Amino acid sequence: MKTILVTGGAGFIGANFVRMILSERKNIKVVNLDALTYAGNLENLSGFMENKNHDFVHGDIRSHELVEKLLKEHKIDGIINFAAESHVDRSISSPGIFIDTNISGALNLLQCAKELGVKRFLQVSTDEVYGSLSPDEDKFSEETSMKPNSPYSASKAAADHLVRAFQHTYHIDTVITRCSNNYGPYQFPEKMIPLCINNIRNGKQIPVYGDGMQIRDWLYVYDHCTAIMQVFEKGESGEVYNIGGNNEKTNLALVKTLLKLLGKDESLIKFIKDRPGHDRRYAIDNSKITNSLGWKPSVTFEQGIARTVDWYLKNKAWLDHVTSGEYQKYYEKMYK
Ligand code: NAD
Ligand code: DAU
Repeated sequence: MKTILVTGGAGFIGANFVRMILSERKNIKVVNLDALTYAGNLENLSGFMENKNHDFVHGDIRSHELVEKLLKEHKIDGIINFAAESHVDRSISSPGIFIDTNISGALNLLQCAKELGVKRFLQVSTDEVYGSLSPDEDKFSEETSMKPNSPYSASKAAADHLVRAFQHTYHIDTVITRCSNNYGPYQFPEKMIPLCINNIRNGKQIPVYGDGMQIRDWLYVYDHCTAIMQVFEKGESGEVYNIGGNNEKTNLALVKTLLKLLGKDESLIKFIKDRPGHDRRYAIDNSKITNSLGWKPSVTFEQGIARTVDWYLKNKAWLDHVTSGEYQKYYEKMYK
């Protein structure tokens, strides 16, 4: 039996990851450390809170005492760090918390991992550390230099530098993954896809920033999770792996796809003021992870987006609890 510390496992990708591991890997125990910020939601883990291989711990990755205690008590074999402030727009209005969580939090985890000899540390990073591409530029490879443009991506880039420095200086075994935009179940509806689905179902307008011709490279969240696990188990020490599924779409095309799937017309589209410093295009060259680890996505974009729309329509209560704030009472109901 292996025990891993997953941080941020009540958020969108972390919860999908925890659900995948507990469903598919009976020989892995998950200690799930999450501070339950506005983005953390225990309803994302429904059906798994009582699982015997799952220990949920409400706490902060910045607490040295707590992380040290968890590593010792559970004899943690590896750490996978999902915990972060993750929304670009929030980083533009309030950058400070992004520095605290994404940089100081990662530093604390690395220091604890070093002190207690954790065997492997995986940092879940993002393609946004590379900056922005013009329409005809080559996709991001692992060799592309970092040029982060938002306080969010700058904080993620700083964490990546710390991970690299800990490997180089203290010989800690680390790997970094840099994925493109995720979509799928349990995504907080401040992000583009669930926001669109929620607005469309309520007959509300869809706010499209600027001209809507920015490009994002979309990956179904389950496929991000399988890639992370493959890198954690088989990735070469000290390496970075880009993750993406070759699905570049303009925001406008994406919105039109969602309107069509939900049977609504384009009159709901509303162009609004652009995001300051808005990155124009992200695109991932995934040849390293596909060639060296044999990873590939399990679904096409068309399959993944249809499945996602279906999930939100079938889980209206989840969406209603998030939009009403009810989800934040779940912890109290369960534990107090
Ligand atoms: P999210 O915002 O949905 O979840 C973040 C989770 O971290 C929440 O549960 C929150 O409560 C927790 N958290 C925040 N601060 C914490 C702290 N100090 N201590 C403990 N827990 C804390 O984010 P997400 O979209 O699931 O992203 C997860 C990771 O993946 C992030 O590191 C993000 O940078 C990265 N990433 C996201 C995407 C994407 O498209 N969403 C793509 C590539 C990489
Ligand atoms: O590329 C990976 C990154 O993808 C992750 O590291 C981030 O954590 C994640 O939030 C995401 O960042 P984006 O800024 O690309 O995602 P977001 O869903 O906020 O926006 C997607 C695109 O849609 C982007 O070009 C901005 C645009 N947009 C977004 C919102 C919320 C709109 O046009 N209108 C909106 O209301």
